[in-house]
Order: sequence, then C-alpha cells, then structure tokens
Amino acid sequence: MPLPSILEGKLRIPVIAAPMFLVSGPELVIEACKAGVLGTLPAANARPASEFSVWLDRIEAALADAPDAAPYGVNISVHRTNERFDEDMETIIRHKAPVVITILGKPDKVVQAVHGYGGIVLHDAATERHARNAMAAGVDGIIALAGGAGGHTGWQNPFSLVREIRRFWDGCLILAGAISDGYGVRAAEVLGADMAYMGTRFAATAESLAAPEYKRMMVESRAGDILLTDRLTGINANYMRASLEAAGFDIDKLLAGDAPAPSEVLESVKAWRDLWSAGHGVSLIDDVPRTTDLVARLEAEYRAAAVR
Ligand SMILES: Cc1cc2nc3c(=O)[nH]c(=O)nc-3n(C[C@H](O)[C@H](O)[C@H](O)COP(=O)(O)O)c2cc1C
Repeated sequence: MPLPSILEGKLRIPVIAAPMFLVSGPELVIEACKAGVLGTLPAANARPASEFSVWLDRIEAALADAPDAAPYGVNISVHRTNERFDEDMETIIRHKAPVVITILGKPDKVVQAVHGYGGIVLHDAATERHARNAMAAGVDGIIALAGGAGGHTGWQNPFSLVREIRRFWDGCLILAGAISDGYGVRAAEVLGADMAYMGTRFAATAESLAAPEYKRMMVESRAGDILLTDRLTGINANYMRASLEAAGFDIDKLLAGDAPAPSEVLESVKAWRDLWSAGHGVSLIDDVPRTTDLVARLEAEYRAAAVR
C-alpha cells in the first residue's frame, strides 16, 4: 500500500513515534524526525495552550535546518470534553501541521480543516466499528490500536484487528500495540499494515519528558508487571504495577474493581503524572538510548527481519 504522498520517501523506516501525554515534547519530536521517523506530540502537552504555537515554531525551525528530516505530527482529542479544541485547531491550521492524529470521537471537522491546507489526518481505531467511522469521515490513515498498548489501549489481538480492517480499508493502515523493536515493525508490514506506531519504546529515550525514575521503571518492568484497568480514567489503560504500588494502591482491590471511583482516587494522585503508563512492549526495553541511536537500531532489526 502506498503511504500518503506527504510521507512517501520521507521516512527511513515506516515508524511513527506515537504521541504520549506528558511524555512527548519538542526535543523528542525533533530528534525522531531528524532520525527519519514521524515524530509526534499531543497538543495538550504544551501548557498553557498558547505554548503549543511556541513548540511548533521550535520544531519547524529545527527541521528547516534538516532537509532530510521526516515531517512532524500533532495529536488532538476530538472528544467534546476537550476544552482546548478550538484554540489548538487554530494553531494547527496556522502552522499547517503536516500530520494530525485524532482520537476519541468523530474526526470529520478536523479532516475538512486539515485537508484545506494540504495536511493529512490519521485516526485511532480500536475496533472494526471505529475504523469504519474513521473511513466514513474521510481520514487518510487508520491506526489499528491493538491490545497490549501503552496509554489507553485497545483490546483486540493485532492479527485479527489488522486483517479485519483490511477487508474494507485499502488506505494507509498503521498498527499500534507493543511494537518495541524492528522485528515488530516488519511483522506489522507482513500482516498488511503500512506503518508501525510505537509509544512505549520512545518513552524510554533520552529526549522523552518522562522522569528518570519513570524511564528506569520501564527498563526494569516486564509485560507481567503491566496492569490493565479502567479504574483510573474510566477507560482501559495499561500502567506499570510499581508506579501504582508507589502511589499506595492496593493492587488486588484495584483488579477486583474495588478501588475508589476515579474522581476520589485522582484527588491525591493523577493518572499519567504519578501513575505511569507503559504497554507490554516494556519486555523488550533494556536501555534508555538517544532517539537517533534507537532509530538506527530499529532500522538494523527491521532489515535483519527481512532476510530471515
Ligand atoms: C505514557 C503514554 C501516554 C500516552 N498518551 C497518549 C495521548 O496523549 N494521545 C494519544 O493519542 N495516545 C497516547 N498514548 C498512546 C500512544 O500514542 C500509542 O497508541 C501507544 O503508545 C502504542 O502502544 P505501545 O506503547 O505499546 O507502543 C500514550 C501512550 C503512553 C505510553
């Protein structure tokens, strides 16, 4: 499947460094793009909202000096609870952000606005129904969010999810969920995806905004240390057990659904800020490299996987 023309020939390997709340900042985006993968960040990470434009200025200035760099992308929630939606969309349109990744709702309006200046829209889909809705909205790419992912995860096995979406979608398809090395990137392609979407692996890089202790916990954790719960934000997400224990959670109660309701819990600790998310891909993380070195390693693995 061809990539959208805006990405064609622009990537060293077919990888998106996925947007991560409180974790992806301008440095990670700049280094990812310079290394040849699509670097992205959530608009919501820039605070206050006026800072978002300052971040995009910084990214654009850095990439202007790197003619071989990949384009960058931004992430915006299209859910009605996103109070910054209008302001962030104005910034996106003013900057003509090349790639816009939408989550949680209908991306129709964003598609119209972004196509207006020649950008593309990718939309998260954890189910076949989400994917059909995204297709109807006219998106340029669908992110198949499978089980085991960091952040708000999908649940479906990637083998069935990718093949199911491929039955009706022949556009750009991107697989997300526990892809942490170049073998996974190649496997995603073999399955029928065009690109891999990698969050957790890029959270454990020198340039990510995650605290040093967060990065260390990713190195020390394995898939068995990842807990899936909807008790913290109301939506299923994967967290590292050790960060929940450090915040004083009774894990058994949490898993039994006995934990206090989200609002009560979140008075003292905050999901994402104090309760650290990561996916099953932590099993493959043993270090905190510079992004440029990580991408070089991903490329070597991706090429090695092709000749097996
Ligand atoms: C700490 C963390 C924060 C995340 N925040 C966001 C977010 O703000 N917006 C979003 O669309 N996805 C978010 N995600 C999901 C990622 O964009 C991506 O779907 C996921 O990381 C892919 O799975 P992987 O972590 O197993 O590679 C987050 C993931 C992590 C690990």
